[in-house]
Amino acid sequence: MDKYLVFGNPIKQSRSPYIHQSFATTTNQELNYQSQLAEPDEFATAVLQFIANGGKGANVTAPFKEQALVLSDEVTERARLAGAVNTLTFDNGKIYGDNTDGEGLVQDLLRNKVQLANSNILLLGAGGAAKGVILPLLAQHPSSIVIANRTLSKAQALIEQFNDSRLSVCGFEQTSAKTYDLIINATSASLSGKLPTISSSLITENTVCYDMVYGKALTPFLAWAKAQGASKVIDGLGMLVGQAAESFRVWRGVKPEVETVIEQLQATLAQE
Ligand code: ATR
Repeated sequence: MDKYLVFGNPIKQSRSPYIHQSFATTTNQELNYQSQLAEPDEFATAVLQFIANGGKGANVTAPFKEQALVLSDEVTERARLAGAVNTLTFDNGKIYGDNTDGEGLVQDLLRNKVQLANSNILLLGAGGAAKGVILPLLAQHPSSIVIANRTLSKAQALIEQFNDSRLSVCGFEQTSAKTYDLIINATSASLSGKLPTISSSLITENTVCYDMVYGKALTPFLAWAKAQGASKVIDGLGMLVGQAAESFRVWRGVKPEVETVIEQLQATLAQE
């Protein structure tokens, strides 16, 4: 049976084995998907060991996504621009690196009927999470993407890699100069229970707000956006399942249905 793994540290919390086994069942694919803890300085060794044991592919999560890029013999454009690899495929003695995070976000936005073509998007954050979604978002033909970051120079350095006139940057305090159809929180602020400090005037009844983080309750950003009257608030659970679905497609050539898995994970989260 074809073997897959997710590498990370920590890894116990990973929902990827559950998600991929569910996809395998619904698409009638025979595969085995496990999780593996890798020590910080032993990631490459662990991957090579898995290849030697017949592994077909692996997902990579924190803190190894940048190391996975370096380890890859060939990478896709979206992985190169993300500066990170979350999907490895092992074939003919070579390691192929891809990044499905941005496509996972795009698919989840489309699933939620969020219009991306001709939209004005505000992306909060300029770290790894933001970087990974820019190319897939641009591919949906938005009118503009403004990247706001606490440290402006980081946002500036980020857009210089893309050389696309639809991209611009600003600090959090300047974000209220314009209105946006979609605001995506790609900062890690939610992880520490904090809010990116943007003006409440940005949120109108036409604004969709998305947080890449998810949890049992609404994230601080989404709770705030909802209180300001946002038209819709969406958390990152669907993005998690979406990136897994895109990895599954890369490996197996079939696109699994995501709705049932998202519903099951929502039910599990509610009980935790
Ligand atoms: P990730 O891979 O999750 O993006 P990262 O690369 O460390 O993690 O980036 C974290 C992002 O969250 C950065 O954009 C960071 O802003 P700075 O570049 O100014 O550090 C942002 N961030 C983290 N905590 C934040 C907070 N409390 N308010 C606003 N932005 C925050």
